[in-house]
Amino acid sequence: MRYRGLLEGKHAFITGASSGIGAAAARVFCREGAAVTLAARREERLSALVDELRATGCEAQYVVVDVVRKEQVEEGVARAVERFGRLDVAFNNAGVAAAGTPMHMMGDEVYDTVMDVNVRGMWNCLRHEISAMLDEGGSIVNTSSTAGLVATPVAAPYIAAKHAVIGLTKAVATEYAARGIRVNAIVPGATHSEMTDAWMAAFPGVEEELVRAALLPRIAEPEEIAEAAAWLSSDRASFVVGAAMPVDGGWTVR
Ligand SMILES: NC(=O)c1ccc[n+]([C@@H]2O[C@H](COP(=O)([O-])OP(=O)(O)OC[C@H]3O[C@@H](n4cnc5c(N)ncnc54)[C@H](O)[C@@H]3O)[C@@H](O)[C@H]2O)c1
Repeated sequence: MRYRGLLEGKHAFITGASSGIGAAAARVFCREGAAVTLAARREERLSALVDELRATGCEAQYVVVDVVRKEQVEEGVARAVERFGRLDVAFNNAGVAAAGTPMHMMGDEVYDTVMDVNVRGMWNCLRHEISAMLDEGGSIVNTSSTAGLVATPVAAPYIAAKHAVIGLTKAVATEYAARGIRVNAIVPGATHSEMTDAWMAAFPGVEEELVRAALLPRIAEPEEIAEAAAWLSSDRASFVVGAAMPVDGGWTVR
């Protein structure tokens, strides 16, 4: 029998798709048969990625969306549905991190940005994606972090935000499972990306510390997170709902 891609015939909306885990997910979701709408803020990168994906035969488009701006999210999801007729899968992955400053010295603007993008942005996306999925059902994966399960020093807003992502995931899963919408969170460990590579470069010793604490002693590649997100999004994960799935090389095991 012919291998059927995990996401064959599905239309997926991916946020934070201009780099890192989101861009890797765009490639993996396409390879697995999905048509994709890529949402992020950096148009040049999105445009180049869409060209690359179309050259492989994937149906792809991009929308320029700042997830904090609810009218942009509404418009982005509407354009996705308009182009592909419906929305089956959403990967809410856009996020920003801030680390390195003790909580009492961290500026309120850091708290505002980190909560806005990671929590309000996810709130905005979920509301419009759920609305688009109500008739036919669907699957949503939200990107949390090991910072959503455990705490480490000097990253209080990020830890609060990523815990909130898991709370929001459970809440929305509870409300919509009966309507055929599965909502789950993925929990990446340290992964090479613009965000994490910049942070590891700025704080010597952090990379070694992260690697030492994992059972698989290395930093993940974004594709390894994207592969897990593709499976969790797909019908092959049909009995998984409201879960927070670690893809962290065993970092949170001990
Ligand atoms: N890399 C890691 O070590 C790691 C670990 C755990 C969780 N995560 C999470 O994974 C997700 C992806 O991060 P990444 O590691 O690929 O880093 P990244 O910086 O390469 O990607 C983040 C993406 O989100 C986009 N983005 C940021 N703010 C946005 C906004 N307001 N509107 C729309 N898009 C916005 C960025 O442009 C980028 O495309 C984030 O939610 C991050 O918190 C990353």
